[in-house]
Amino acid sequence: MAYAHRHLLAIEGLEPPEIAHLLDLAESYVLLNRSGKTARDMLRGKTLINLFFEDSTRTRTSFELAGKRLGADVINMSVGSSSVNKGETLLDTAATLNAMQCDLLVVRHDQSGAPNLLAQKVDAAVINAGDGMHEHPTQALLDALTIRRRKGRLAGLTVAICGDIAHSRVARSNIHLLTAMGSRVRVVGPPTLIPAAVEELGVAMFHDMRAGLADADIVMMLRLQKERMEGGLIPSSREFFRFYGLDADKLAAARPDALVMHPGPMNRGVEIESRVADDPARSVIREQVEMGVAVRMAVLDTLAHGPRRND
Ligand code: ASP
Ligand code: CP
Repeated sequence: MAYAHRHLLAIEGLEPPEIAHLLDLAESYVLLNRSGKTARDMLRGKTLINLFFEDSTRTRTSFELAGKRLGADVINMSVGSSSVNKGETLLDTAATLNAMQCDLLVVRHDQSGAPNLLAQKVDAAVINAGDGMHEHPTQALLDALTIRRRKGRLAGLTVAICGDIAHSRVARSNIHLLTAMGSRVRVVGPPTLIPAAVEELGVAMFHDMRAGLADADIVMMLRLQKERMEGGLIPSSREFFRFYGLDADKLAAARPDALVMHPGPMNRGVEIESRVADDPARSVIREQVEMGVAVRMAVLDTLAHGPRRND
């Protein structure tokens, strides 16, 4: 089964074969990127616009690189110096970009649902590059590709997602993807940072780090999303690290071959210590970034040539 949607707005709702299709295609782009060959005919004549209303290093750069590697014309809209500052609305901005015959619109916004709204208004295929606390679908795909390449599968693995679950779109997309693909997912963190209803998503909840990490195959750390916190949810960064920061001692509870992941950006000494983050025997954080380019190439390729159904 190929990917059957016009946009990529969320992982929730995708069928496992659609996820597998994107991962398989991304795998072929990993090999292409490493071979030094190019596929610049793939998106020749297509226009990709990056529209980021929130800060980004990895996602924006890798969409740009992915688009260029496939031959698209890539435009990075700098929202900070755009007419958004003159009061232009999101929808009027989108209509303006639409009039320029954009084919692929990559959107990051602090409001959950903003990419869905745009998808209803523009002709371009819309890709959610992170919307508020909702989803970050390409992050979950690149995480899954990284895991699958290292462990050979997703089904049956125990994945512990740790830290600020409540405010994390990365956690939400990963929970949907990994449970759909048959992994056992745990969420680990203080009660103030885990939504009560999370177990309804089919995950197990832990408030003790060592218990949550016990025999895990994958330990995925998350940054405290302070930009989305009301305040008072954690005592202090130092206290948070003591109980929930990943160090070699807590990691020892996981399987000896457990992989350490982090979507970035990292706050060293808050959710993860440098010794673990930089340990080439355990950490695949840089590999996640590499997989990000391949996954975004696969998504752009699929949406640029995929079905034009209205969903
Ligand atoms: N970069 C990821 C995101 O935008 C994770 C983070 O910022 O902590 O959601
Ligand atoms: N992981 C991630 O989305 O990173 P950026 O916020 O730097 O894009």
